[in-house]
Amino acid sequence: MSTQAYRQILEQVRNAFPQPVSDRMHDAYFVFSILRALDQVDAMKSEIPVLGKAQQLDYNTAHEAQIANELSSVERVSEELVHQFEGMPIWGHPHTQINVVGPSSIPSIIAALLPSIYNPNLVSDDTSYGLAVAESAVTAMTASLIGFDPAQATGVFTFGGTGTNLYGAKIGIEKAFPDAMETGVPAGGVLFASGQSHYCRLNVAGWLGLGERNVVEIPTNLENDIKIDLLEEAAREAIEGGKRIVAFIATMGTTDALGIDDVEAVVRLRDQLVEEYELDYRPHVHADAVIGWAWAVFNDYDFEENTLGFRPRTVRALAGVCRRISKLHLADSIGIDFHKTGFTPYISSLFLVRDRENMRLLVRGREQMPYLFQTGERHPGVYTLETSRSGSGVLAAFANLHLFGKTGMRTLLGHLVEMAELLREHLEGHESTTVVNDKNFGTVTLFRVYPDGIDTWTIKDYERTDISAREELRDHNEYNRRIFHYLHEHAMKGKGVHVSMTDCYRHTNYGEPIVALKSYMLSPFIDEQHVELLVKNVLEAREKVDSHGQQTS
Ligand SMILES: Cc1ncc(COP(=O)(O)O)c(C=O)c1O
Repeated sequence: MSTQAYRQILEQVRNAFPQPVSDRMHDAYFVFSILRALDQVDAMKSEIPVLGKAQQLDYNTAHEAQIANELSSVERVSEELVHQFEGMPIWGHPHTQINVVGPSSIPSIIAALLPSIYNPNLVSDDTSYGLAVAESAVTAMTASLIGFDPAQATGVFTFGGTGTNLYGAKIGIEKAFPDAMETGVPAGGVLFASGQSHYCRLNVAGWLGLGERNVVEIPTNLENDIKIDLLEEAAREAIEGGKRIVAFIATMGTTDALGIDDVEAVVRLRDQLVEEYELDYRPHVHADAVIGWAWAVFNDYDFEENTLGFRPRTVRALAGVCRRISKLHLADSIGIDFHKTGFTPYISSLFLVRDRENMRLLVRGREQMPYLFQTGERHPGVYTLETSRSGSGVLAAFANLHLFGKTGMRTLLGHLVEMAELLREHLEGHESTTVVNDKNFGTVTLFRVYPDGIDTWTIKDYERTDISAREELRDHNEYNRRIFHYLHEHAMKGKGVHVSMTDCYRHTNYGEPIVALKSYMLSPFIDEQHVELLVKNVLEAREKVDSHGQQTS
C-alpha cells in the first residue's frame, strides 16, 4: 500500500523533469512550459521600463515562508516564478539607463539555458566535455582580442568581477609571499588601487587575509584615473618601510565614470621598482577591465577610414578609450565581465593571465581531491577557488563572441557611445546642466543640474576645489537628489527615462562627496528620441523642483 502511494507521487515527480530519453510528447510539454512562463513574463510588459508594477517588497511574508507538505505542479511553480519578476527593470528598454547592466542576446540566453538542463561542471572536462573546450576557446578569443599571446595565456571563468579581482590579488599574494597558500598570509603585504577602483578591493583584501587596512587608495586625476606620481610615492614608501607589494590594480573603466588607469605607466613603475630596489619578487599587476575590455574590439579599427560611419565626435570618444585599453596586454592578469559590456546573462566573468605558469601558484596537490579527475585531460579544478563551476557563463560568452564578431560589438558599442555623446551635446547646450565626467568617453554620462543663476561654466571647478564652496556644494547635491527623485517617479509612471544617481562620483579636494545623476546606456534600442526625452525630463524636473522650492520657501 505504502509502495503504491509513493509510486504515484514518483510519476508526478518524474513528469517535472526533462525526460532522459527523448519523448516527443513530453519534450513538447517541457518546451511549452518554458513558453508559457515567457508569455506570462511578456504580459507584464507595458510602456514603463519595468515588468509589472513597481511595488513595496514584502519581506515580512517572505520571513514566514514554510516548505509545503504536498507536491506542487510545473504550472503552479512557474506562475510563482514569474511573479518574482514583478517590478524588475527591463534592462533592454531604451528608457532604462540605470547602471552597468545590459540586456542579454537571444543566443546568450539559450547558452545559459542549455547548461541548466544538462548541468556540465567545469571543475574538469570529465564533467563538462565540450564546455571545457568552449572555455578554452573563449579564453583564446578574448586573449587575442586584448593582445595576449593565446599560446602563453590561460583563463578561467569565475563568480563575478569581484572573483576576477580576487584571483588577481591571490596570485599577487603568492608571488609576494611564496607558499602563502600553505602557510598563510604573513603581515606586511600591501595592495594599491585608485580611490575610484571598485570597492570589491576591500572584500578581496579582507577575504584573502591581507586585511582591508592594507589596501592603499591612491587619488585620481580629473580623468578619474590613478595619479601615477602619487602611486609611485606610496609604492616607494611601502617598499622602504619593509612592506611587500601584493598587487597593483589598474582599473580599466571605473564603475561610475569609465575612468581608465594608465596601465602602461603602472607596469613601467613596477619594473623600475623591481630593478631599483632589487626586489626578489615581481609585484603583480592586475587590470580590472570588467567594464572597459569591450573597447578592445576597436584596437584594430581604422578610425581614419571609419568604415562604420560613426560621427566625428563618436570616433574621438572611441579612440580616446582605446588609447589606454590597447595597452591592456601589458598587465599580468585581467578581469573581463561579459555580463557587463558583453550582453550576456549573469554571471559571465573571465579571469585571464598573460603567463599560464602563474596558475601553478594556485595548484593544490592531486591527493587533496581523490574523487576527482580520474579521466579527461583538463582539470581547472586543481587551481580554481570554486569546486563546481557552471557552464552558463562560459557558453553565454561563447555565444556572443560568435554572434557579434568584432563588427557586431563595434556597432553596438559605437552606437551606444554615439547616443551618449548626443546626450552630452544636449546637456552641454543647456545653461543649467553640466557633464561632470566630460573627460571620460564611455556610454555612461554623469551630470549635474543647477538652479537659475548658477554659472555652469565655472561651478564645477569651484565646487571641486574651493573649500568655501562646501555649503553650496551640499545644497546642490541636495538639489540633484530632488531632481533624481522626480525623474524616478516620472519614469515609474511610464512617462520618462529611468536614470540613476551616485552619491559620490568623486570627492572634492576638501573631502566632500559630489553627487551626480547617471545615465548608463546599454540598451541596443536607445535612439535619438530617447535621448531627447531624457533631456526634456531633466528640464521638466528642474522646473518642478524650482517651483516646489519657491512654494515651500
Ligand atoms: C570596475 C568594477 N570592478 C569590479 C566590479 C564587481 O563586479 P561584480 O559585481 O560582477 O562582482 C564592478 C561592478 O560593478 C566594477 O564596476
